[in-house]
Amino acid sequence: MYKQILKPALFLLSPEKAHHFAMGILKFFTRIPGVRGILRNKYAKSNENNKVTLFGLEFPNPIGLAAGFDKNAEYIHELPLLGFGFIEIGTVTPKPQNGNDKPRLFRLPKDEALINRMGFNNHGVDAVVERLKNRPKGVIIGGNIGKNKITPNENAVNDYLICFDKLHDYVDYFVVNVSSPNTPNLRELQEKEPLKMILSKLMVSNSSKKHPKPILLKIAPDLTEDQLTDIVEIVEETKIAGVIATNTTISRDHLKTPKETLDTIGNGGLSGKPLSNKSTEVIRFLKEKSNGSFPIIGVGGIHTEKDALEKLNAGAELIQIYTGFIYEGPDLLKRINMSLSQMRHA
Ligand code: FNR
Repeated sequence: MYKQILKPALFLLSPEKAHHFAMGILKFFTRIPGVRGILRNKYAKSNENNKVTLFGLEFPNPIGLAAGFDKNAEYIHELPLLGFGFIEIGTVTPKPQNGNDKPRLFRLPKDEALINRMGFNNHGVDAVVERLKNRPKGVIIGGNIGKNKITPNENAVNDYLICFDKLHDYVDYFVVNVSSPNTPNLRELQEKEPLKMILSKLMVSNSSKKHPKPILLKIAPDLTEDQLTDIVEIVEETKIAGVIATNTTISRDHLKTPKETLDTIGNGGLSGKPLSNKSTEVIRFLKEKSNGSFPIIGVGGIHTEKDALEKLNAGAELIQIYTGFIYEGPDLLKRINMSLSQMRHA
């Protein structure tokens, strides 16, 4: 139904309008009595085989919604009905910000990909906390945190600490996002010294809390092997809970979309099918280099059951999806859940 009816209609709209329109439809229909039950039955039936326990949390299935889709925690009551085992909200920054000028999100249908330069448009941490006070029970929610565009890198740690403190009581795990290509110089925070400093300070703050939360680091797919080796060392040294690999790429290699179209679109992070192998290789490298010393959430270009299995076989304990959900709809989650269940039952 999604691919035959809804998607062709949504793809007539600009990608950003389509996103808000689709989420509006979901919110509207799930207010009609009975619809939530129908969706849950179709997409989100619990399945013992697919449960994963990690970071002291019990995930109903290993497929999460990647950050950036529900930046402001507006759809946390509805998205789990489509089969997601966990939802990552954000990236959230201390102050609200508009992000970059529109248009800033583009489809590459020939490549089943997207390019975005949203620039952390979000309502700010206080508004998000207000929404999370009414979070649904039994749904695992991660908080992906970042810095405001106007905050210089040398003060970035304060932005991460503000978001961490304010969200602490309201999310189940944290993700430190230093890998978006759309906030100028943000990715420089992936260098050894600034990264160690930010993660250590968050860990100190975490240990002062009554209930410390798992902290993960989200990295770019464009890091060199040396940089990835540094990441392994930093994760082991700071003892954070794990890594999310990967964010979008700045590469435009091996695309079917013509170069002129790519030039017209301009800067931004590429997600979807063309990212799949690259992010899987990052997962494999981290897993081998660390001897499996920390868990990895694998994300990037999962559009089929096979893509999902590749990420898990490369060493990911959990996976996340964004672009594949836009191209395939909720049936994709159902298909992955079914094939995992069959595999784990066999
Ligand atoms: C993203 N992504 C993202 N990641 C993040 O950590 N914080 C964010 O705010 C966003 N925002 C965002 C917006 C849009 C429009 C897209 C397409 C993506 C990256 C996302 O979480 C994921 O890491 C990548 O998109 C790769 O996965 P997919 O899309 O190939 O499944």
